Amino acid sequence: MNIPNNITNICCIGAGYVGGPTMAVIAQKCPEIKVTVVDINQQRIADWNTENLDKLPIYEPGLKEVVQEARDRNLFFSAEVDKAIDEAQMIFISVNTPTKTYGVGKGMAADLKYVELCARKIAKVATSDKIVVEKSTLPVRTAESIKTILDAEGKNVNFKVLSNPEFLAEGTAIDDLHNADRVLIGGDQDEDGLKAIQSLVNVYSHWLPLERILTTNVWSSELSKLTANAFLAQRVSSINAMSALCEQTGANVDEIANAIGSDSRIGPKFLKASVGFGGSCFQKDILNLVYIARSYGLGEVADYWEQVIKLNDYQKRRFAEKIVKTLFNTVSGKKIAMLGWAFKQDTNDTRESAAIYVADYLLNEQAELVIYDPKVKAGQIYTDLDYLSTRSEEENKRLITIVNDPYEAMDDSHAVAILTEWDEFKAYDWKRVYNCMKKPAFVFDGRNILNIRIMDEVGFELYTIGRG
Ligand code: NAD
Ligand code: UGA
Repeated sequence: MNIPNNITNICCIGAGYVGGPTMAVIAQKCPEIKVTVVDINQQRIADWNTENLDKLPIYEPGLKEVVQEARDRNLFFSAEVDKAIDEAQMIFISVNTPTKTYGVGKGMAADLKYVELCARKIAKVATSDKIVVEKSTLPVRTAESIKTILDAEGKNVNFKVLSNPEFLAEGTAIDDLHNADRVLIGGDQDEDGLKAIQSLVNVYSHWLPLERILTTNVWSSELSKLTANAFLAQRVSSINAMSALCEQTGANVDEIANAIGSDSRIGPKFLKASVGFGGSCFQKDILNLVYIARSYGLGEVADYWEQVIKLNDYQKRRFAEKIVKTLFNTVSGKKIAMLGWAFKQDTNDTRESAAIYVADYLLNEQAELVIYDPKVKAGQIYTDLDYLSTRSEEENKRLITIVNDPYEAMDDSHAVAILTEWDEFKAYDWKRVYNCMKKPAFVFDGRNILNIRIMDEVGFELYTIGRG
């Protein structure tokens, strides 16, 4: 098989949260490599090509500067999928792998239809040898299926499949890519496999030291990605479990996180109690892990990891219940201001955001919600609620109001609920807010970001996650 040591042409299928930023950084750091990102969603491609860099389809700190530097130099966003595939020596598959919503494995397994479509497309249009790189998060042993599909076309073209899972977190994607703790590359341990691994190592070594580029066999690489997300989410569920106990006992969850995080064996990161983890991946990847474990007959392993999700559902419900209980067991007809809709700060991504579940719960109790988020568009909020709830679109529209001014959201409200840890919430004029709210004025801090002493002094009835 023809495997160049130094790749000069890369194609990435999927211009989403991973494909866009990842390829932008590869293009920035490797100016001699032509990088073309393609997508079946033509609007998305048009949005990546926008003149106004403040209107890129994804908001990530630092992204627009990277795009500005590389776009139209060696970074291209294109809807000409076939052409880009055929010209490339290395093709990244970076399409979505959501939880299945139908058939066998519904609600648990990863839906691999988009990945399979990519493999079929590559097999069909490739006229020269290709290295195909799994960038999407995939169940262990997917590379085997991809290889089978690629080879089935029976043309005189050879393929090597690598696994190169992505570990960036949204909101810090550019920094995570520039200063990755590690990059992981899995490949076959035969001559061509090792050569293919080396050609991808040579891409990343443009900016990362070699000791941070780990190489393994394909299956370890695929399974490491699911394991990493499961371990991270498990830490959040573990500290959230303790937050419930703190609220009963008068212990302070931040003090506990600090006390245990100082133990170098535990470490300080990912110990922030919250209203629950969201994002497109933690839940989906753990469900997938649970499904895989069950399908191998490993019931105890599956039950162990499933508990991480159950605890997260409990935490979101617990927060919403707390609001209703505190507001004298009824929120019907009461105005509640929700600050934050994104699943975490510094992103406009709302997938699986805890805010959606809390809002749905409160709407079922007939609350009137006024929602403010500095980066999420109104249309996205309606879409999220319509997708989750059993209410009609019209009803959701009637029950919620979306505003661009946080003070307008809180004006004359019975309560404020903080769902995302946006920094700007800390800097609000809380005295002014207090003065224009109904009394008693309640604040439910689901992110533990507000200064408790100041909020007390102002006169709020403050509930903070993990504080008795
Ligand atoms: P996304 O939904 O933002 O983007 C996926 C893109 O792929 C979409 O634009 C879609 O139109 C396109 N696409 C789907 N099928 C296609 C096809 N056949 N041909 C061309 N384009 C096609 O998804 P994402 O968040 O970028 O995630 C992609 C993968 O990366 C997933 O497997 C996810 O688990 C994984 N991942 C995501 C993150 C993250 O922070 N979002 C981090 C690490 C890994
Ligand atoms: C996560 C992982 O951190 C990435 O390494 C991985 O690549 C990515 O999933 C993926 O596979 O998609 P992401 O979901 O973007 O990244 O963001 P995180 O920073 O991990 O936050 C996830 C959720 O956990 C957020 O809702 C966040 O608010 C919550 N969280 C995180 C806490 O509640 N407490 C914490 O201490 C940390």
